[in-house]
Amino acid sequence: MKPLHEWRLETEHIGRRVVYYPQVDSTNAIALALARDTCNEGVAVLAGEQTAGRGRHGRSWSCPAGEGVLLSALVFPPAEWRKPAILTAWAAVAVAETVRQTAGLEPTIKWPNDVLIDRRKVCGILIEQAGGTVVGIGLNVNQSAAAFADPELGRAGSLASCTGRQFDVYQVSRALIQQLDAWYACLLGGRCEQLEDAWRNGLGLLGKRVVVECLEGVVEGTLSALGLDEIELERATGARVRMAPERIRHITRPAESRAPDPPLHFPGECG
Ligand code: BTN
Repeated sequence: MKPLHEWRLETEHIGRRVVYYPQVDSTNAIALALARDTCNEGVAVLAGEQTAGRGRHGRSWSCPAGEGVLLSALVFPPAEWRKPAILTAWAAVAVAETVRQTAGLEPTIKWPNDVLIDRRKVCGILIEQAGGTVVGIGLNVNQSAAAFADPELGRAGSLASCTGRQFDVYQVSRALIQQLDAWYACLLGGRCEQLEDAWRNGLGLLGKRVVVECLEGVVEGTLSALGLDEIELERATGARVRMAPERIRHITRPAESRAPDPPLHFPGECG
């Protein structure tokens, strides 16, 4: 399928070629098809709308046409960086920085790969690997607060619903591609600690009491170390438990240590 527009950004890896489709089934599916040829390294696929947007665990991702960033970037990372924890940290840090830059908001990263504002999910990340690695990012931009009012949807939001302002989706997409590129160069340049620091800060969980849901069960304690290779938890008994990030499904704060939920912005609302 031929893209409607195609352009180049002055980046090192991601976005040297950007292709835009008004409507596709899934930008991840398009990027995975491009993974048959390593010449397509760094291609960024953008869409106005997806008819079969893919989410994690077989779920779908929906976003009204033109209201959010729907992006998939194709890379062929060296084997040492091809680990889910590293790739999701890369994408989540790039999204968090984009949100800071474009909306002036302070996002948090939710384990393993969501980005939240005021504890509302504004972005989901889906990494798929087949030949190459595709990082798929859905970032809610201009949906109104009313779009997230249905409690069935869980706690979700957009840059607009969290600020009461509208954004240029193209500018947000470009900023995101540039951030992905900058953090990818950081990884390839052997500066993984820089990414790890940004990811650790984004999670904001170090030294806090947490509940960890891992493949073996649920453990509660204080998070004493948080790295891309290993996390360490100190239990109330003083015992230390170490785990590889790949074994962890969720890390959350115990309910009693959370602050009350901030409100959404409805148009015309004061105070
Ligand atoms: C999640 O379940 O939270 C991950 C959602 C990922 C959605 C994005 S939208 C762009 C890219 N293309 C897809 O089909 N999915 C990802």
